Amino acid sequence: MSAQTENLLNALSWRYAVKKFDANKKIDSKTWQALEESLILTPSSYGLQPWRFQIVTNLDLRRKLTPVSWGQKQVEDCSHLVVFTVKEKVDEVYVQSFIHQMGKVRGVDPATFAGYQKMIVSDVVNGPRSQVAFDWAARQSYIALGNFMTACALVGVDTCPMEGIDPAKYDEILGLVGSGWKTVMACPAGYRASDDKYASEKKVRFEKSVLIEHRD
Ligand SMILES: Cc1cc2nc3c(=O)[nH]c(=O)nc-3n(C[C@H](O)[C@H](O)[C@H](O)COP(=O)(O)O)c2cc1C
Repeated sequence: MSAQTENLLNALSWRYAVKKFDANKKIDSKTWQALEESLILTPSSYGLQPWRFQIVTNLDLRRKLTPVSWGQKQVEDCSHLVVFTVKEKVDEVYVQSFIHQMGKVRGVDPATFAGYQKMIVSDVVNGPRSQVAFDWAARQSYIALGNFMTACALVGVDTCPMEGIDPAKYDEILGLVGSGWKTVMACPAGYRASDDKYASEKKVRFEKSVLIEHRD
């Protein structure tokens, strides 16, 4: 095994869903900046990025979020709480803003992408996908969650993916109601408490032969 693959597997095995964070340990700003990049660099369908990542460090807010997170204290004990929100409905204005950004970043007239824009609009805004717009966007956000957790593991930061939350209550507490953005799930990040007994639990996974089928 190369050093690179060994690093990767060590990080993935080291990661676990943390049940108890050390409330006194905070992620330093340089590390956090890199982890934010892992969110930003996440790929999405058409490149549309139908998400906003709410980074909640405010303790008062997090204390309000704990009771609507099935009482899970990781929300307030972590260093940074990431709340994954997505666009309720992708509209033409949003697609236009993406096409504009493409032009800006690549230094070309956005009109160059008119065909691409039309294709996206006819699928995501007016086509069958528009009927499942929120679910579609939510699925995209799970890619960001995975990317984020792996990035955290690679730099020794702990996480706990969380669907055990009340998304509607999150929207209320974070002032998102009526904004067009809705909470999907959350992921506290920080450092495990030394007495989190889950850290030493063996990972439960089906056998490789059950989960992976090779079609050579
Ligand atoms: C989408 C998703 C939602 C989850 N929600 C919660 C949660 O609300 N609270 C929690 O403690 N763990 C949650 N988990 C953690 C899983 O239970 C855990 O990842 C799984 O048992 C495998 O264990 P490991 O992550 O420690 O390897 C969630 C995991 C995923 C991927």
